[in-house]
Amino acid sequence: MGVSWNQLSVVVVLVVISSVPVLASAGNFYQDFDLTWGGQRSKIFGGGQLLSLSLDKESGSGFQSKKEYLFGRIDMQLKLVAGNSAGTVTAYYLSSQGPTHDEIDFEFLGNLSGDPYILHTNVFTQGKGNREQQFYLWFDPTRNFHTYSIVWKPQHIIFLVDNIPIRVFRNAESKGVPFPKNQPMRIYSSLWNADDWATRGGLVKTDWTKAPFTAYYRNFNAKPWTPSSFSDSEWQTNELDAPSRRRLRWVQKYYMIYNYCNDWKRFPQGPPVECK
Ligand SMILES: *[C@@H]1O[C@H](CO)[C@@H](O)[C@H](O)[C@H]1NC(C)=O
Repeated sequence: MGVSWNQLSVVVVLVVISSVPVLASAGNFYQDFDLTWGGQRSKIFGGGQLLSLSLDKESGSGFQSKKEYLFGRIDMQLKLVAGNSAGTVTAYYLSSQGPTHDEIDFEFLGNLSGDPYILHTNVFTQGKGNREQQFYLWFDPTRNFHTYSIVWKPQHIIFLVDNIPIRVFRNAESKGVPFPKNQPMRIYSSLWNADDWATRGGLVKTDWTKAPFTAYYRNFNAKPWTPSSFSDSEWQTNELDAPSRRRLRWVQKYYMIYNYCNDWKRFPQGPPVECK
């Protein structure tokens, strides 16, 4: 007998761990998404495992989910436009339809080679946004794929980057702030040009000699909410656990570069009620 139980259980644990990402990446872009904009500039390949969007001087491109979601956890891995991406914006968001729509936004604002991207976030409820928070990232988002997630529950919306919470938008209906809870949302993404505002406030323009600009997507995973799809404890806990709260504070302390809640110039009467 060459193998002890200890060794065997190590092997079992390794097999279980290494199979988790495979299970989590069961999504297939052909099945789950429609390419909606930009013609040949959006592509699905690798048997449905990889999607790319590109932008050139004539047009950007985009896609949207076939399904709508009302609460759930949605994960996507993105690898952003590399090199000189100044003026480009990769938007990745959930949105419902119509003038009183709800929306949960990630927007990645490109930059010159070697200068940091800005991750811009926003939450719209009943057609009203103005809730921007912006971050630098603690890695270069163009080198590798990283996971960007939205956890949308009746109690709160959490934005995560590589499973680290960067922003929590709590349900503040008790203070009169509408919360997205009645309108199902689709997932959308687009790559477009916004060199009138995106990079250093519009000072740095897109260098079209570097076009086409391309962003990549993989490992889409959506866990829609149904009363049975999540364990009770996962869905009923209102708050982040202590390690997650620490990570959130770390991101907010060292990487947050703009928070509408602290913008006294913009809100001279004091910040919006959900900030308190
Ligand atoms: C681009 O780089 C400049 C200089 O480091 C920085 O001020 C800015 O926040 C960066 N990001 C964007 C999107 O402008």
